[in-house]
Amino acid sequence: MPAPQDGSASPQGAKALVKSYGCQMNVYDATRMTDLLAKEGYGQAAVEEDADLVVLNTCHIREKAAEKIYSELGKLAVTKRERAQAGRDFKIVVAGCVAQAEGVEVLRRQRAVDLVVGPQSYHRLPELLSQAAQGRQLTDTDFAVEEKFRELPQPSRAQIRARGVSAFVTVQEGCDKFCSFCVVPYTRGAEISRSVEEVLAEARRLVESGVSEITLIGQNVNAYRGEDSGGIIWPLERLFEALSGMEGLHRLRYTTSHPVDMTQGLIDAHGALPKLMPFVHLPVQSGSDRVLKAMNRRHRAQDYLDIVQRLRAARPDIALSSDFIVGFPGETDADFEETLALIREVDFASTFSFKYSPRPGTPGAEREDQIDDEIMRERLAVLQALVESQRQAFNAATVGRTVDVLFEKPGRHEGQIAGKSPYMQAVHVDGPTEMIGGVVPVKIVVAGSNSLGGKISEGEGEDG
Ligand code: 5AD
Ligand code: SF4
Repeated sequence: MPAPQDGSASPQGAKALVKSYGCQMNVYDATRMTDLLAKEGYGQAAVEEDADLVVLNTCHIREKAAEKIYSELGKLAVTKRERAQAGRDFKIVVAGCVAQAEGVEVLRRQRAVDLVVGPQSYHRLPELLSQAAQGRQLTDTDFAVEEKFRELPQPSRAQIRARGVSAFVTVQEGCDKFCSFCVVPYTRGAEISRSVEEVLAEARRLVESGVSEITLIGQNVNAYRGEDSGGIIWPLERLFEALSGMEGLHRLRYTTSHPVDMTQGLIDAHGALPKLMPFVHLPVQSGSDRVLKAMNRRHRAQDYLDIVQRLRAARPDIALSSDFIVGFPGETDADFEETLALIREVDFASTFSFKYSPRPGTPGAEREDQIDDEIMRERLAVLQALVESQRQAFNAATVGRTVDVLFEKPGRHEGQIAGKSPYMQAVHVDGPTEMIGGVVPVKIVVAGSNSLGGKISEGEGEDG
């Protein structure tokens, strides 16, 4: 790659590809990195073959996620060798949580990697890249979240428009909860909230460019405590109140929440703010008090059930989603039965479930009572069969109802458009692409295994 002539980090005509793994926070960071690289003159590559620079924005939450990165890097190393033979340069950057957790180890395991940059420092990507161009592989994994928030690159209107009608806004990052299975407090650092002004300004810019749904994101989004210009601390629901007043913004969501931060104020907001969608992702992990304690979750199963009951009192149609881990060290059959009992009691619309994966450096990994993989597999299958039947039943119950759909994109088939119900269900209808970006009442006529089919309704939607 010839050295850049114009002070930017990119060589002439170079293209970059940022690939994201894991959570929504990474999706958000990846979009920001793409914007940042665009400012440096990098075009956007759709596939690796087209790229001169590939950034892997990595996830470290489970072993499988981390190992996937190393196999991906193996393939990129081959590409790099082939490019070198053809006299072309190819740069490989590892960003995100694997970069943070494993740092210099990444450089050791894969010599083709040019740069390792942690999630708190990607705003310095151009500067770090030009240092790496001088032959240095450097690791930058200092915790500097505040600095990152201050320097987040802002996308242009055209970039926002190209991305569509639904957008994420980071309001909070990091976690102080230290669940005993989880690497996030180590990879993302302590909880920190973005200021109210920054959040509202970013939301305003998005809405002005055509975004009609905003999801506020954070590892512990409901722990949000952002300061306004007068030094007043706002909880999450106050952001929702302010955002509710923005014309053109139709839908508000948030993810991911922790049960201990589920305040009555936030629960009440679900009853008071029609734009706040009736869907909450609230991970519980286990239904056994013994396991919850061992996981350091700081609440009992009954506390979770109480929250669900209060959410339903505030907004009777609210749909619930959760994460589950099976096979945490010491989990007995009886503990697992309690998880199934909780699932039966709540009745979830959608869920994510995982086998426990011991993560180096977490207390769970040190325990001697690790569960056999075979048992974990069996429990996972039982749990997934149960939640799958609940998901199907939830979707089937939507048939015959008229629900508001925010159309996001053309559907898979000619003449179709696709979007989301208030409850995060994928919905497709026959309709004109002009409807994309709008919220339209749709009568649901059929529930497929992964999406609902509907007809655009002539009358008003029953769900406001
Ligand atoms: N093993 C398995 N699942 C995990 N999760 C987090 N850490 C682990 C782990 N070590 C799951 C939790 C969390 C979700 C994002 O990933 O369920 O809520
Ligand atoms: Fe991990 Fe627990 Fe923090 Fe969630 S709350 S990010 S599971 S430590």
